[in-house]
Amino acid sequence: MPLLIPTDELVPGMTLTEPVMANRKVMMQRGRVLTHADIDVIQRRYPQMRVRVDDPVLDEAVEFEDDSRERSIAHEAQQRVSACMNEVAERFAGRTSTRCVDFNLLQQTVAELLDFLKSNPASAALINNCMDSKHYHGVHTGNVFYLSMLLGSTVIDYVISERKQQVSARDVRADFASDLTPLALGAMVMDLGMLPLKHLIEEQRPLTPEDSDAIRQHPLVGAAMLPDNFSAVARNIVKTHHENMDGTGYPVRLTRDRIHVFARIVRIADAFDAATSVKVYRGAKSPARALWEMASGPYRRFYDARLMQSFVTLIQPFQVGSKIRLRDGRYAAVVRYNRQNPFDPQIIVAFDASNQRLPKSKLEGPLYPSTRRDLRLASLGDEDLTFLYASGVEEVKPGAPFREMLESVYP
Ligand SMILES: [Fe+2]
Ligand SMILES: [Fe+2]
Repeated sequence: MPLLIPTDELVPGMTLTEPVMANRKVMMQRGRVLTHADIDVIQRRYPQMRVRVDDPVLDEAVEFEDDSRERSIAHEAQQRVSACMNEVAERFAGRTSTRCVDFNLLQQTVAELLDFLKSNPASAALINNCMDSKHYHGVHTGNVFYLSMLLGSTVIDYVISERKQQVSARDVRADFASDLTPLALGAMVMDLGMLPLKHLIEEQRPLTPEDSDAIRQHPLVGAAMLPDNFSAVARNIVKTHHENMDGTGYPVRLTRDRIHVFARIVRIADAFDAATSVKVYRGAKSPARALWEMASGPYRRFYDARLMQSFVTLIQPFQVGSKIRLRDGRYAAVVRYNRQNPFDPQIIVAFDASNQRLPKSKLEGPLYPSTRRDLRLASLGDEDLTFLYASGVEEVKPGAPFREMLESVYP
């Protein structure tokens, strides 16, 4: 079974169960038995990386969920979408006016991507954080597009019922209500209004009040950049992709029923990707932290709860094979996802408090950490996980200063 471990735990003789990738290139093939020199290279060049290695002992003791196929499909789909988006973004960025932008080509790209995703469905969207901030816009848009489509197609019944409830769409046929093309288009151009503000993302300085104002207007600026004959629903998504369910969003502070279900989907995908991407001005949050903050933590009222429920199971905060330190000091490996409660994955306690392997007779589990107070999850790598059990979470209040809001809702 593949154990997912930090580079400083690698020892010679371990076998890679997945290739070591960097910048989309294979650095070391799967199946390679690591030598001192290999480990030296990995540790020096990619100290933050986690590597999947074979663990025959645990393999014999428990059956791990095998999600490698899903992960590779998700990865390929994402790469494909990202590459497409970068191309589109470059085309946009090269023009001074969007009048020269070929929106037909855009629609064609969307159709192609939809086709690709339809024939390559991936149920686990595991996000790869090796992102290059130079191309932040393209990668970000690609991820948001991909996650939006994934979420949209997972909750299609909810999408249909929500679309039917909208006053103007009461008589819509089911096949029209379930058409995700406007969602795809909207997700693809949602941040068009950020292109003139690209420097704000790349520069390393605090935002001035004018910068904040400009960011606040980017949904409206973006919508105005679209041609007249562009899909009205997609334009609506662009305008409202930063509105929150509780009325704390921007630029208009719409509330729940006034926000199209597609815009609510994009909102979730956008916030998650922004939180988990490394930016020049701040580090990335872990998927676990970002998901928890959005689903159960301080920002939970921003998002559609029904959509969030599905999103959390799509992403899965803890990957199979991850080594997590427990409250009693020992370490466990994640054996299986928990689709009912992704923050409570099935684990097996397999290492003692000094990170030494426990003898087979002393292994505990598989079990759910929630069933044992002493086995609650304590940390993953450097990240403290006690927030998972926090009570009395402080929420962001409606009317909080926009700058404070930007922390969590960055464009
Ligand atoms: Fe965004
Ligand atoms: Fe945005």
